[in-house]
Amino acid sequence: MAKPRVFVTREIFPEYIDQIREETDMELWPDELPPPRDVLLQKSKDVDGILCLLTDKIDPEFMDNAGPQLKVISQIAVGFDNINIPEATKRGIPVGNTPEVLTQTTADAAWALMLAAGRRVGESERAVHAGNWRTWHPLHYLGQDVYGATLGIIGMGRIGFEVAKRSVGFNMKVLYHDIVRREDFEAELPMEYVDMDTLLARSDFVSLHTVLNDATYHLIDAEALAKMKSTAVLVNAARGPVIDPKALYKALKSGQITAAGLDVTEPEPIPLDDPLLTLENCVIVPHIASASVATRREMSRIAATNLLNGIKGERLLTCVNPEVYD
Ligand code: DGY
Repeated sequence: MAKPRVFVTREIFPEYIDQIREETDMELWPDELPPPRDVLLQKSKDVDGILCLLTDKIDPEFMDNAGPQLKVISQIAVGFDNINIPEATKRGIPVGNTPEVLTQTTADAAWALMLAAGRRVGESERAVHAGNWRTWHPLHYLGQDVYGATLGIIGMGRIGFEVAKRSVGFNMKVLYHDIVRREDFEAELPMEYVDMDTLLARSDFVSLHTVLNDATYHLIDAEALAKMKSTAVLVNAARGPVIDPKALYKALKSGQITAAGLDVTEPEPIPLDDPLLTLENCVIVPHIASASVATRREMSRIAATNLLNGIKGERLLTCVNPEVYD
């Protein structure tokens, strides 16, 4: 009997590629860059399953093109804003993602950005490399204290909560905002649930951990930035479009806020002529928040298992739209 056909849109850990290859008729996109749209469509025609990334747009056109035999969409990421979930659900296609395993790693990365932006690590490191470390000076590279500061978290999900937990060692006051109050989390860690305006006005560090949807698109715009302290540091390890990049540039340039740390940008990758790249007070890293060896290995395992379960008609380990099983 012919093996089920699958398209894997990028290399993952080799042991899981081997496992997929053993059980399926797999086509693997070998390039570093995503398959162009026409290639994605062509390679996915008549497949039983796809293992995809957040850079692959999985929309109704993709699903129509793949055909009615498509049994599973397995995303190697916790976020899935590149996938049209209602459309997949309508067609009875389970969508897998890779939650939990990246929570701690991503929370660590948000902290790395908070510290780097607050304490001017990017700027001062660049200065050392450029030969500009000429002396110790009482007024050079003065940043913001993290210890004892107020941390505002927007989006109190698993990652937001882990970011909050790490603040204990820094003796911080934690404020948070989300569409729902998380009394379960508050029972574990003292945190104050506040509205957005209060959070923006009172926080020394604002860390974003929301999903990207219509309500959070450009949530941090010129108006929101104007409500922040001039000494505030903004961190985004969620999705780039949660911040309006033009408004952020103006706020950083004018000193309306003091610094930003971005793991994600709009667009990605950030173009070399983007004005944000001209700013010393903006630390930007290339969407690496979940990039530890152990975490990416686990993400590979879960994504491969979801793909293989899906093509066999078995329940996915982690399913974004479990209503397909009802
Ligand atoms: C995700 O998982 O959604 C991240 O953005 C990549 O790890």
